[in-house]
This record gives sequence, structure tokens and C-alpha cells, in this order.
Amino acid sequence: MRLVAWQPDDLLRRLDDVVDVYGEAMGYRQELLQTRRGYIGAHVRRPGFRAVATLTTDGRLAGFGYGYTSGPGQWWHDQVRSALDDPSRAYWLTDTFEVVELHVRPAAQGHGVGARQLRALLAMAEGSTVLLSTPEADEQRSRAWRLYRRFGFVDVLRDFIFPGDERAFAILGRTLPVTERAAEDAPGIVGM
Ligand SMILES: CC(C)(COP(=O)(O)OP(=O)(O)OC[C@H]1O[C@@H](n2cnc3c(N)ncnc32)[C@H](O)[C@@H]1OP(=O)(O)O)[C@@H](O)C(=O)NCCC(=O)NCCS
Repeated sequence: MRLVAWQPDDLLRRLDDVVDVYGEAMGYRQELLQTRRGYIGAHVRRPGFRAVATLTTDGRLAGFGYGYTSGPGQWWHDQVRSALDDPSRAYWLTDTFEVVELHVRPAAQGHGVGARQLRALLAMAEGSTVLLSTPEADEQRSRAWRLYRRFGFVDVLRDFIFPGDERAFAILGRTLPVTERAAEDAPGIVGM
């Protein structure tokens, strides 16, 4: 498996595979995936966009992750902003990179692919903080939660409900750059 940095057009060229990996990883139904496909296509043009992908030796997409600079006027940013008090806004939302998606095909999970993707993405990210949202879950039993905690993400908001989604989410954050040992044991990105 090989980790690569993607430019916006690289992601757009593999958009079918990206949506496929996303659907497999999250277990989402087709209808919802088509809506997400539209969003993802638009996200690549946002300021500070960074993306990574993991390819198998025969070029199949095993996983991907991307994010961009979080700013007013973005739906996610505005939702989180409205739930934070002023000091928290100033700290978390002034100069922040949002990890928007991070997924690994179920068959490839559990081998450090997600950790390598996250480490590479955060190494390329601009900002003094990074935020992400993840569904509330048992922290010990959820691979995503274990990954984020290992990277030093702390609670920013818990049990947050985004409009239009009945599931509760946690908003997690940490400062950049990432230097902790936990994030350092994964090999670097190809071509960088
Ligand atoms: C969350 C997700 C991205 C993590 O990716 P992953 O490749 O499965 O996760 P990791 O890189 O942490 O690897 C998993 C395990 O391998 C271990 N590991 C790490 N590096 C390793 C290596 N080099 N070799 C072998 N194992 C390794 C880790 O300790 C980890 O163990 P743990 O999960 O028992 O704590 C992935 O599981 C996924 O797509 N899940 C579904 C979608 C999702 O929840 N996405 C995030 C939504 S916000």
C-alpha cells in the first residue's frame, strides 16, 4: 500500500472510488451517498484543501482523507460556532483546519492505514488548531475514537446534534503541529 498526497483534481478523477470507500466505511445507503458526492466535489475548491489517499499495489483506493481551512459561511463551521462560547470560538475557530473525511475500506482497516492518513493530512494542514466531528460511540470500542485519542484530540463539544441528523456527534480538536510520538510511528507520505 502506498500513501499519496492528492491535489483537488486527483480526488475528482477518483470521485466514484472515494464515494465507494466512504459508503463501505460508513455503511451509508446509496441515496445519501449521492448527496455526499455533490458536497465532496465542491469541497475540493475550498481554501487550504489538503487530501491524502492510500492505494493498493494494483491502484485500488483503500482509503482517503481530506480537509480544508474552516471558515464562516461553511455550514459545519457555522453550526459549531453557534454552539461555542466566545473564548472557545476564539481558540478553536480562528485559524483552524477541519478534517472533513477520513475513511478506510473495512477490508483494509486495522493495519495502521487510518493513522498514516491522519498523520500525513495533519502534517500538510495549515492552521494552529484542527477540528473534526465523529459520531458519539463507546470510546474503547470505536476504532475512530481510539485513533483520535491516540493523536491527542480532546473534547470540544459532546452530544452535538447537527440539523437534519438525529445522531449525536462529538467535536474533537487539538493544536497543530502534531509532534506526539503516537502520531510519529507511521511512515511518511510517498512523493513528498
Ligand atoms: C476510523 C478509521 C479511519 C481508522 O482507520 P484504520 O486503518 O482502521 O485504523 P488504524 O490506523 O488506527 O489502525 C487500527 C489499529 O491498527 C493498529 N496499528 C497502527 N499502526 C499499525 C501498523 N503499522 N501495523 C499494524 N497495526 C497498526 C492501531 O493500534 C489500531 O489499533 P486499535 O484500532 O485497536 O486501537 C477506519 O477504521 C474507518 O474508516 N472507519 C469507519 C469510518 C469512520 O469511522 N471514519 C471516521 C469517521 S469521523
